[in-house]
Amino acid sequence: MKKAIYPGSFDPVTYGHLDIIKRAAAIFDEVTVSVLYNVKKSSLFSVDERVKMLKEATKDLPNVKVDSFSGLLIDYAKSKDVHCVIRGLRAITDFEYELQVSQTNHLLSHGDLDTVFFTTDLQYSYLSSSSVKEIAYFQGDVSPCVPDFVADALEAKYAEQDRK
Ligand code: PNS
Repeated sequence: MKKAIYPGSFDPVTYGHLDIIKRAAAIFDEVTVSVLYNVKKSSLFSVDERVKMLKEATKDLPNVKVDSFSGLLIDYAKSKDVHCVIRGLRAITDFEYELQVSQTNHLLSHGDLDTVFFTTDLQYSYLSSSSVKEIAYFQGDVSPCVPDFVADALEAKYAEQDRK
């Protein structure tokens, strides 16, 4: 069985992520989308909220699972007996960081963990969770970027925070 992990922050999930998930799910037998508990990055949504949104967004993809993890990706992948990581590349600006992380994972895992890159569909190449949050913060239209229920969650979150 060909299994892969798609790790990330997904704060929140965008159509760019969903495009990668769908394409990966068409190639791999099982794709686990996994949200990182990242102590180094402050997030708008809790890990539980992000997992819930990813589950809703991928509910029609039977071979996609949603999970969360903390610590090193190589340890998490080993615990799941997965040897392939999926990442999306939007532009050349992503490449340097992604290359560094994939090479490090390959080295640390003694060659046990490889990374497969999907080039983002051109219509989503401009998209990032950060820009989506900024648009939502200023009450702009995020409908081209995220599913409706994510747009609603963004609005609810910023309303709850009184846009501070
Ligand atoms: O969506 P993001 O924030 O770009 O995802 C980054 C992620 C989760 C893929 C990366 O930060 C990660 O794998 N972190 C886990 C910690 C780890 O294994 N670090 C070593 C790689 S240099």
